[in-house]
Amino acid sequence: MATRRTRWQEAGNSGNFGKRFAELVSAGEDIDGEARLADTLLPRGARVLDAGAGMGRVTAALLHRGHDVLAIEPDESLVRQARATYPGLPIQERDILDLTPDDGPFDLVVCVGNVMVYLAEGTEREALRAMRAVLGENGRILVGFHLQDPPPHARTYAASEFEADLTAAGLRVDLRAGTYQLHPANDAYGVWVLSRALD
Ligand SMILES: C[S@@+](CC[C@H](N)C(=O)[O-])C[C@H]1O[C@@H](n2cnc3c(N)ncnc32)[C@H](O)[C@@H]1O
Repeated sequence: MATRRTRWQEAGNSGNFGKRFAELVSAGEDIDGEARLADTLLPRGARVLDAGAGMGRVTAALLHRGHDVLAIEPDESLVRQARATYPGLPIQERDILDLTPDDGPFDLVVCVGNVMVYLAEGTEREALRAMRAVLGENGRILVGFHLQDPPPHARTYAASEFEADLTAAGLRVDLRAGTYQLHPANDAYGVWVLSRALD
């Protein structure tokens, strides 16, 4: 269960989001862009955490590519949708803030699709620390969110503030891009690959 109510829960967003993605799945649309980039960052058969997995699309795409994936998602209705859409999907109703080091180690934590701008207010550093704590020795975090025009009820999170928060959480930037196809960094959307800062 969520320890603090997320902006996502405050917004009551899951209905529209879930419906939109259900339509995309049944129309056979490409919803695997984030998973394709994640896959290029990984050895075969890697251990992955999908943090804030929504209705499970990224987890499903990474399972399909042969990885061992755990999805966590605090929104109960999205967990239900994930189980109905992808039977057998390994998803737990949990919050990033509830992760413990025993949940790891993971080769990659995927935290994409605006999770960072829907966290509970003031929990960004704590969430980054929690994800860092489950990384394996060479583990990395793939994170992406809108930098401008955030979706309804999401916060505005500037790249400079995010980078200050990740540094405070003991992480460093290995790569920053503007899309999951690695277009150059821009002011509209941020995609980062993070790893543990050297001591
Ligand atoms: C726009 S959805 C994206 C879902 C999924 N990552 C995707 O890209 O399809 C944002 C998600 O962030 C999740 N979220 C917000 N705060 C969270 C937290 N503290 N722990 C885990 N998930 C969280 C919400 O529950 C919601 O599912």
